[in-house]
Amino acid sequence: MEFLEFKKVYKVYPTGVRALDNVNLSIEKGEFVFLWGATGAGKTTLMKLITREELPTSGEVWLEGCEISALEDRYLPILRRNLGVVFQDLKLVPHWTVYENLISPLQVLGVRKKYAHHLVEEILDLVHLQDKKHHIAEWLSGGEKQKLCLGRALIHRPHLVLADEPTGNLDGATALELVGALFEFSKKLGATVIIATHSEELISQFPARLVVLNKGKIIQS
Ligand SMILES: Nc1ncnc2c1ncn2[C@@H]1O[C@H](COP(=O)(O)OP(=O)(O)O)[C@@H](O)[C@H]1O
Ligand SMILES: [Mg+2]
Repeated sequence: MEFLEFKKVYKVYPTGVRALDNVNLSIEKGEFVFLWGATGAGKTTLMKLITREELPTSGEVWLEGCEISALEDRYLPILRRNLGVVFQDLKLVPHWTVYENLISPLQVLGVRKKYAHHLVEEILDLVHLQDKKHHIAEWLSGGEKQKLCLGRALIHRPHLVLADEPTGNLDGATALELVGALFEFSKKLGATVIIATHSEELISQFPARLVVLNKGKIIQS
């Protein structure tokens, strides 16, 4: 059984745009994947089919033995609990500290206090924010906010991490640091990571699998 599998997936939006055109793709547990393609290639659409923000027009999407393209809505919270999604729009609570922003998702999940603290410390090390632990989120620089967002996406140790252009408006060094943290997370915990990007520079820096999308078709995998 593959960890993640797209089988003959088509996505045609109501406008008639064919965003995904017969996508067949298998990704194994623990793989670190760059999903590369120009703007409009279909990267975000592909990710939205995994988070179930969109349904395929036809075809199937399977994750850990479960057909997510056929999942009943009431099971969506369980699906999403196992995902780590790095948002472009920062989903931080601005007047909370870095520590509070990291621990709150664990409190929602009912994780015991001592273990939650341990997980937060681990993530602070991973994203290099240990020295900013008690800083208020809105005081952070753009790059630090982005690192905190990444930390929040990883804090519950998801099996699958989806990052859609996570380095969008960051300088090269910060972008590398961020993707480096994702790489380390994947290696350490065996998590599968998929990063959508159109940056050639980034993909040349990591020993990762490259999946290339062009106009909705996978042209290299
Ligand atoms: N909600 C939508 N409605 C209509 N067309 C869309 C929608 N979302 C994306 N598209 C179109 O689908 C194509 C693929 O978009 P997208 O998946 O966002 O690509 P990428 O993330 O690679 O830039 C583009 O032509 C885009 O304009
Ligand atoms: Mg996109």
